Amino acid sequence: MKTFDFSIPTKLVYGKDKHKLIGEYLKDSAQHVLIHYGSSRIENNGLLEAVTQSLDAYHISYCFLGGVQANPSVDLCQTGIKICQSEKVDTILAIGGGSVIDSAKAISIGRYSDEMLWKVLNTPELIPQKAMNIAAIVTLPATGSEANDVAVISNDTLQQKIAFSNPLLVPKLAILNPELTYTLSRYQTAIAMVDIFSHCFERYFDLTRESLLWDALCEATMKTVVDLGNTFINHPKSNDFRDDMMWSATVAHSNMLGPGGDFACHQLAHALTVQYGIPHGGALALIMPAWCQYVYQRHHDRFKCFFKAVFKVNGVEEGIETMKAFFEALGAPTTFDRYHIAEIDINELVDKVYSKQVEYVGNGLEAIYPEDAVKIYELIL
Ligand code: NZQ
Ligand code: ZN
Repeated sequence: MKTFDFSIPTKLVYGKDKHKLIGEYLKDSAQHVLIHYGSSRIENNGLLEAVTQSLDAYHISYCFLGGVQANPSVDLCQTGIKICQSEKVDTILAIGGGSVIDSAKAISIGRYSDEMLWKVLNTPELIPQKAMNIAAIVTLPATGSEANDVAVISNDTLQQKIAFSNPLLVPKLAILNPELTYTLSRYQTAIAMVDIFSHCFERYFDLTRESLLWDALCEATMKTVVDLGNTFINHPKSNDFRDDMMWSATVAHSNMLGPGGDFACHQLAHALTVQYGIPHGGALALIMPAWCQYVYQRHHDRFKCFFKAVFKVNGVEEGIETMKAFFEALGAPTTFDRYHIAEIDINELVDKVYSKQVEYVGNGLEAIYPEDAVKIYELIL
């Protein structure tokens, strides 16, 4: 088994109405909070009011920064840093999905640097030694950002997206109330499921982990996501699957299933998001089957085990088709044409993936070099 350190310093609070207790949970650590969020959705549905009432009850003061967009931009983070510095904010409360939480993480560390944030995130020597406390109220269960050390930030000017990780970024508190996820659309739910699935999948195909237990935990979680997905496909209006979905998202990407991960699919997917605006989980639904198709012959046994355990099929080719059919039935397309993109420029995609002088992507199964990436993207056409 690979050596590892394991710590989840996040207090995870799960259940109905728990967001109404945010003041109580923060009362010993927070005095002045930046409430960070995306659209006016949380103003209109009463969530913001419930949160501020709870903070008021414990005399915790607050200020606001809304406007986080999907694939959060470094520019808004820079604004958040200024607010935190000038208002002496001690805690950021992120309310939303992975984008809002990641934006909060970037602000929390950037607040302690005088350099521009994009430079800090790209220069290991500039990373501050401390970060502000982060709390999250999750409204979209997908990324697991609420209990991990990763922030994915985009630079719209440079057309780049980077994943940055640091132990200082792990939120101190995350509130998981499945009822807050009932308003997710069909497509958002579908691609969130794909993302949750992918975080187990990436770990499972990192063969350097060498642990039967971690393999079994990944298989069980992926199988559960498939079961939840099937409930969703058959009863799209039901919310029965949302409780387990919420906890699956946190489990899948917080190292509870073991550390590491191959993450070639994530790197290839990020380029699709940057280049064509395909949402994160949507991009993964395109990439994962194509990546399987491209690498499986050299790792046949592993893929056979995977498809048998997760999709109950014996052959790998049949397994890939079953996985694609599952994503499609969820509502996550597995071919480019469904996104109505006029022309896919594979060379530009490949340039995006390897833009930081990275020689290859993928850690643990197979190194994917630019010439491999071309072939994987071609398989989706
Ligand atoms: O602005 P709001 O109103 O919050 O709307 C959001 C947004 O438009 C909406 N939404 C959230 N909760 C909702 C809701 N709509 C209706 N009802 C609700 N209850 O959903 C839209 C997408 O939200 P976003 O936060 O962008 O989605 P997600 O959670 O999938 O996060 C995606 C971002 O996280 C990164 C991705 O690359 C992408 O930038 N990732 C972060 C990771 C991490 N930190 O560990 C790992 C992941 O692999 C991923 O890369
Ligand atoms: Zn992901």
